[in-house]
Amino acid sequence: MASKNNDGQDGPRIIQCFIDTRPLWPVKKGNARNEVQELKTVASRAFSLLTEAEQTSVLKYYHLKDAKMSMVSHLLKHLIIAKCGIPWSRTTISRDAKGKPCFNPQAEDNHVILDFNVSHQAGIVSLIAAIGLKDVAVGTDIVCVNERSHQDYAHINKYGFDDWVDVHADVLADSEVAFMKSAPVDGRTRGAESVIERQLRKFYAVWCLREAYVKMTGDALLAPWLKDLEILDVQVPTAKERIDPISLEEGEVVRQFANYFQGKAVTDVKTELTAFGMHYMIAGSMRIPKELRDSGVKLGKWIQLDLEKDILDVAEAAS
Ligand SMILES: CC(C)(COP(=O)(O)OP(=O)(O)OC[C@H]1O[C@@H](n2cnc3c(N)ncnc32)[C@H](O)[C@@H]1OP(=O)(O)O)[C@@H](O)C(=O)NCCC(=O)NCCS
Repeated sequence: MASKNNDGQDGPRIIQCFIDTRPLWPVKKGNARNEVQELKTVASRAFSLLTEAEQTSVLKYYHLKDAKMSMVSHLLKHLIIAKCGIPWSRTTISRDAKGKPCFNPQAEDNHVILDFNVSHQAGIVSLIAAIGLKDVAVGTDIVCVNERSHQDYAHINKYGFDDWVDVHADVLADSEVAFMKSAPVDGRTRGAESVIERQLRKFYAVWCLREAYVKMTGDALLAPWLKDLEILDVQVPTAKERIDPISLEEGEVVRQFANYFQGKAVTDVKTELTAFGMHYMIAGSMRIPKELRDSGVKLGKWIQLDLEKDILDVAEAAS
C-alpha cells in the first residue's frame, strides 16, 4: 500500500485525523446487549478486519456507542501501521512498558518508525501519529463539554463551581485549579453562553490539553508527576459561528505555549487545541527532540475521515 498522507505526500510526517461514529452502523433499538451484538452483522466489513481478541473486546461493551468507538479505535490503530507500508495481517498492536499502545515491528518491518495515540469521547475517535520521525512522541485527547452536563450541573448547582473543580484537583496543578476558579472567564461566547458554560469550557480545555500531554508521555494514570505539570494561560477555542448543533465544523485553533514542568518552561513539547462543532475540542501534543526542532515538523489540521473510503477500502487493499 502506498504510504501517502492526507495531502498525498510521502515521508516523515504528523497525521491528525478523527472519525464521527455516531451515524455509523444504525441498529434496531432494543436491549443494549443485543444492539451491540448486532454489530457483527451491520458492521461485518469493519468487524472482519479486527483480530479475534479485538472482536471479543468490542462485543463486551454494554452500550453500542462505546462498542462502536472501540471498533473504530482498533481500526485506526491498524490503519496507521498499514500506512507505513505494513500488510494488514502484520499490523499488530502492542503496548510499551508504560502501557501506551504502539507498534513493535517484526524483523522484516523494523524500518518503521512510528508513534501514535488515540482518544474517544461522545462518539468521536481521534488519532495522532508521527511517522518516520525518530524519538517524536504524540498524544491526543477529545472532550465533549456537554456530555456530562447533567451530572456536572447537579453538582455545581448544589455546591458551586469551585467545589466541582476541587473534585478533580488531585490530578491538576494547584495553579490550574486557581486559573479555573478565577474570574473573569473569556468573554467570547460561541459554544458557551452562560457563565457556568464558559467556566466548564475553560475547565475542559485545560483538561484536554493535559490529557493529550500525559498520554503523549505514556505515563497516563500512573504519572507520579501529574501535579508538577502546569498548563497555564489557556485560551479557550471558540466554536465556529452559526453552525448546525450536530455539525463538527472546525472552530478556532489555539496554540498552547505556557507549559511548565516542575516550575520550568517546557520547550520540547508543542500542544494545540481545536474546537469542533459546538461542544467538542480535540488536543494534540507532540514532543520533538532537539535535532528535529528546525525540521519544520509541526502539528496541523485534524482531517475528518470517511469510514469506507479512508479506512475500509485502504485496509482491504492492504490485506
Ligand atoms: C488510560 C488513559 C490514558 C485513557 O484516557 P481517557 O481520557 O480515559 O480515554 P481516551 O479516550 O482519551 O484514551 C483512550 C486511549 O488511550 C490509549 N492509552 C491507553 N493507555 C495509554 C497510555 N498509558 N498512554 C497513552 N495512551 C494510552 C488507548 O489507545 C486508549 O484507547 P483504546 O483502548 O481504544 O486503544 C487514562 O485513563 C489516563 O490515564 N488518563 C490520564 C491521567 C489523568 O488523571 N488525567 C487527568 C488530567 S491530566
